[in-house]
Amino acid sequence: MQIDIDQIDLTGEVPVREPERQYYFMAKVSGYVKRRSEELGRPMTFCTQTFGCQMNSRDSEKLEGILEAVGFVQTDTEEADFVLYNTCTVRENANLKVYGRLGVLNSLKKKNPDMMIALCGCMMQEEDVVEKIKKSYRFVDVIFGTHNIYKLAELLYQRLEAKKMVVDIWKGTDQVVEDLPADRKYSFKSGVNIMFGCDNFCSYCIVPYVRGRERSRSPKDIITEIKGLADDGVVEIMLLGQNVNSYGKTLEEPVSFANLLSQADEVEGLERIRFMTSHPKDLSDELIETMKNSKKVCRHIHLPLQSGSSRILKLMNRRYTKEKYLDLVDKIRTAMPDISITTDIIVGFPGETEEDFLETLDVVRKVRFDSAFTFIYSKRTGTPAAKMEDQIPDEVIKDRFDRLLSLVQQISSEVCGREVHTVQKVLAEEVNDHKEGYLTGRLSSNTTVHFKGDPSLIGKIVDVYLDESKGFYYMGTLRP
Ligand code: SAH
Ligand code: SF4
Ligand code: F3S
Repeated sequence: MQIDIDQIDLTGEVPVREPERQYYFMAKVSGYVKRRSEELGRPMTFCTQTFGCQMNSRDSEKLEGILEAVGFVQTDTEEADFVLYNTCTVRENANLKVYGRLGVLNSLKKKNPDMMIALCGCMMQEEDVVEKIKKSYRFVDVIFGTHNIYKLAELLYQRLEAKKMVVDIWKGTDQVVEDLPADRKYSFKSGVNIMFGCDNFCSYCIVPYVRGRERSRSPKDIITEIKGLADDGVVEIMLLGQNVNSYGKTLEEPVSFANLLSQADEVEGLERIRFMTSHPKDLSDELIETMKNSKKVCRHIHLPLQSGSSRILKLMNRRYTKEKYLDLVDKIRTAMPDISITTDIIVGFPGETEEDFLETLDVVRKVRFDSAFTFIYSKRTGTPAAKMEDQIPDEVIKDRFDRLLSLVQQISSEVCGREVHTVQKVLAEEVNDHKEGYLTGRLSSNTTVHFKGDPSLIGKIVDVYLDESKGFYYMGTLRP
């Protein structure tokens, strides 16, 4: 369902039901944007900056969809009439970046009286952050959180009416508002939320506090969305959730993630399915079987390890051991020998000893990950780990981090080349900025390939011969 906002009757009462209510406010704001653009003699512009994970990227597409629907034109400079930061707070440096950039926005705002600044996303779910902004960053116009992004038009309208800062943060929600516009970054691939929130409470992690309780969307809504995307030319989807393996458990009629994958597999026109993220504790045999039997599910799994030490994993509340993780990898590889496995690892969790760290290196050596995101432990206020004794000194962490990174890089440069001298299916994704006449695409394993090709191929799956492995990517030749 998409509503034509020019047809909305603004003389009647404000609708109470969603999404009708938001379409009403979109129509209101659209009237303002139209008038003001005429007065200014130029279109009003918006710019969004997205920090953090795929969830935030997908949320930003929805926010951008609303802004475009009301008549703002997207620009990539922050000298815009509406600047929106969709923030992340998973590690402290994500958080600091935002404060740093707010200073710059303030000086831009002084030059443009029409400029409005909005902040949303995970960081805004933290009370002390909102207090700090209210006190020290008075020039911010709108603040909202992760649970009410669909309300952007209503909040914007409130701001225009009230002419003062509008703050709307919800502690949680059980609502999932469907059928609002979204502006996809790519025409041929898209994220699809299958669940929101997280109930795992890993002891270092702030996500459950800022994204709320785990809620799954109904399989019917998800499949309808995927069909709509496929009809619109999307060939690849990424199913998104903090722990997709526990999808569907809380639905009235429980459905497994594997079952959802099989349903997505049937959607005509769709060629590739990815998903993110898999928690090792809930990865079922049924899922491995479904992946193995599917032609569309990509040969890639992101399986965050976090630590190789069973002792630390217990303190992290991850609910698996080193042995269980290694067994799982074995099972996956036995079923799909060509699968690419990637991971996340945290260094310097409180109490991590050299022995614990060596266990992590041992798992990295045994699994031989295609790639790994390595993070320095960041203390997040409010999480159990923040109160743990024995926080690790910076210089020890730095040394471990460097050792881990060099091992990870060495292994991934060896592993990533395994498909060299074969022909593979590649989704052509973009024009290569560095090499004229070249395109960049991705293999099923998620590895990138650069090859000579015409931009008209973008969005298509093509056969490419992989001539040479460059460690983290391939150079290839298009096959007719
Ligand atoms: N839901 C996903 C992870 C989401 S956060 C999962 O469970 O796998 C992405 C990654 O950020 C995590 O996998 C973890 O490695 C890292 N991370 C989360 N909290 C962190 C913290 N406090 N310090 C450092 N890294 C952290
Ligand atoms: Fe954070 Fe753990 Fe939830 Fe992932 S599963 S989002 S690491 S609490
Ligand atoms: Fe960051 Fe929120 Fe994602 S904290 S990692 S943007 S869920």
